[in-house]
Amino acid sequence: MPTILAIESTCDETAAAVVVDGRDVRSNVVATQVELHAKYRGVVPEIASRAHIENILPVLEESLASAACGLADLDAIAVAHRPGLVGSLLVGVTAAKSLAWSLGKPLIAVDHVHAHLYSVLLDSDLDPQMPAVGMVCSGGHTALYDIRAWDDVTLIGSTIDDAVGEAYDKVAAILGLAYPGGPVIDKLAAEGDPKAVPFPRTYLNRESLDFSFSGLKTAVLYHVRGVPGQNKPGATMTDRHLRDVCASFQAACVDVITRKLRRALTQTGGKSVIIGGGVSANGGLRAALARFDVPVYFPKLAYCTDNAAMSAGLADVHYRAGRFASLDLDAITYSSFAR
Ligand code: KG4
Ligand code: ZN
Repeated sequence: MPTILAIESTCDETAAAVVVDGRDVRSNVVATQVELHAKYRGVVPEIASRAHIENILPVLEESLASAACGLADLDAIAVAHRPGLVGSLLVGVTAAKSLAWSLGKPLIAVDHVHAHLYSVLLDSDLDPQMPAVGMVCSGGHTALYDIRAWDDVTLIGSTIDDAVGEAYDKVAAILGLAYPGGPVIDKLAAEGDPKAVPFPRTYLNRESLDFSFSGLKTAVLYHVRGVPGQNKPGATMTDRHLRDVCASFQAACVDVITRKLRRALTQTGGKSVIIGGGVSANGGLRAALARFDVPVYFPKLAYCTDNAAMSAGLADVHYRAGRFASLDLDAITYSSFAR
């Protein structure tokens, strides 16, 4: 029953968690920096790395205290060392290496995107049928994976421009809504008409498993502000229309994601779908996939957005396979599944 402490600092959340046996989450502490970045409507890398330095020790202490776990009880120290913002990653990687070295415990390196997929297993006893089609949809990633086993994952498609969460955040800015945009649009969309505005669905070519969300984002911009050069005024934004635009934008995102998931299942022979990342919290997506062709596994809401429990869970797979990192582990900005 390995007890693993993991650290997460890839982007703008400083997090630490203790997980036993890969599934039993004993603590899951997340210090969010949302307020620091809200006025810039996006993550400012220098502000993020400074905040990680301030947060890392209190977050680590709280994760151990709330798990009622001492340093001596730990079997390994894990860290999400890729992908992410380099200044942010360095804080977590340095803390993990220092802890592992000073305690004489093994160090485990985890890919953050891979951990988003694993998050469906946390606090659950479910075992998704393999092969599975994996999907990570977040602010930084929108990608599909062929999952043969938890340590046999291949990238099969990804966005060629914006990530879907990024599109949510930018559309929220266009509509004058709060940052991050995903939860706000999700809430308003539930009260709007998804057929009110026929926003485009970008499927690329027939077989493609790649995504593109920048055209959809521009379509919302033109709908709201008018098309440049055409002297056509933008839409009048009543409360009703705002909800309809949110619902119509969300319907376009959900249609594209569900169509691509079906394509991926056909191409890989997948028997289930595993979805993680911030956008997997989306109510519209969850409702659409509730009636899907194969079982679909979502993380519990607490594990959709960035957290360290998912890294501690995935680290258990590496621990059992004896895959340990050395103390010269680097922070790497791209995922191990990058093309
Ligand atoms: O996984 P995450 O915390 O960070 C990255 O690794 O990027 O995802 C954050 C993203 C943001 O873009 C946020 O707007 C989006 O997830 N998000 C949502 C919802 N909750 C968070 N998007 C749509 N619907 C939601 N309910
Ligand atoms: Zn993430």
